[in-house]
Amino acid sequence: MTVPLEIHLDADDQERALRADVVAGLTATPKSLPPKWFYDARGSELFEQITELPEYYPTRAERAILTAHATDIARLTGARTLIELGSGYSTKTRLLLDALRPELFVPMDVSPTALEAAAARIAVDHPSLRVRSIVGDFTRHLGFLPVADDRLVAFLGGTIGNLAPDERARFLAGVRGVLRPGEHLLLGTDLVKSPRVLVPAYDDAAGVTAEFNRNVLRVLNHHLQADFDVDGFTHVALWDADHEWIEMRLRARRPMRVTIPAVDLAVEFASGEEIRTEISAKFRREGVAKELSEAGFTLDHWWTDPEARFALTLARALP
Ligand code: SAH
Ligand code: AVI
Repeated sequence: MTVPLEIHLDADDQERALRADVVAGLTATPKSLPPKWFYDARGSELFEQITELPEYYPTRAERAILTAHATDIARLTGARTLIELGSGYSTKTRLLLDALRPELFVPMDVSPTALEAAAARIAVDHPSLRVRSIVGDFTRHLGFLPVADDRLVAFLGGTIGNLAPDERARFLAGVRGVLRPGEHLLLGTDLVKSPRVLVPAYDDAAGVTAEFNRNVLRVLNHHLQADFDVDGFTHVALWDADHEWIEMRLRARRPMRVTIPAVDLAVEFASGEEIRTEISAKFRREGVAKELSEAGFTLDHWWTDPEARFALTLARALP
């Protein structure tokens, strides 16, 4: 079944944004690329595989919290419209849909293939639910979210941790800006814990995360005709204790010169030189409450899984 997508980020916009990010990130020192470019069809599928890895606990932990508290969330919010940002395949979201039984579901993601797969699956379980899938960037297109009564914005999976602190502040203020006082934000955050648990979650034995990480180079090869030797880069995951975030990098195995014709760029890599491809910040309750409060929300409920690995926060937009 094909479900229509509302497109605020078409292929041309995507490519323009990709070019700008690639020029800025690969001419900077140190080199970096924003994590949103992992998620072409293959990257979205690799992320789904990550969620099932034994080492990658966040998805299971968040699912346990949703299983325990979806009915509380439905009762406390009374939401009639569920908006999901960075929705991907919306796999866990079905727990919320079952409890809320909303009139309208609005998933927004940069990945059209993930949105299509999600909508097709949801149509089977919730045939009468109106689904308005939006291809958009949640750092740029929140203004396209529908105005409706009693909205709940879900931002699950800990994806907020993939934004830098200044981007997080702008993002949360942006979400607050589209909500009316009393409407809700449901925010998933991974929590600070031992690097003995954190690092393997981002460097699994089967090498799926390494493939996911290297996928960003395949995206550049495909869309910008770059000539990255993808296997010339090793996957690196490390814990930055000062910032309390995991950092993923790609490290050049040898000196390389990569050409990127679509942006007329040649990029030199020294042996061992790295590209930072993702941060995944881990949180504490005080920090989440502070960031929410600075954006104009109040933290009403904080739920964790039994091992306190992950938290789900229900926040309310203040007047
Ligand atoms: N929410 C799902 C998926 C998390 S993976 C879960 O909890 O399992 C992160 C998702 O966010 C991917 O589907 C990716 O395509 C999307 N994404 C990343 N950056 C984005 C951005 N700037 N705007 C919109 N979607 C984004
Ligand atoms: C989507 N996001 C919350 C994931 C994370 O854990 O930061 C992306 C990811 N990167 C490597 N593994 C999973």
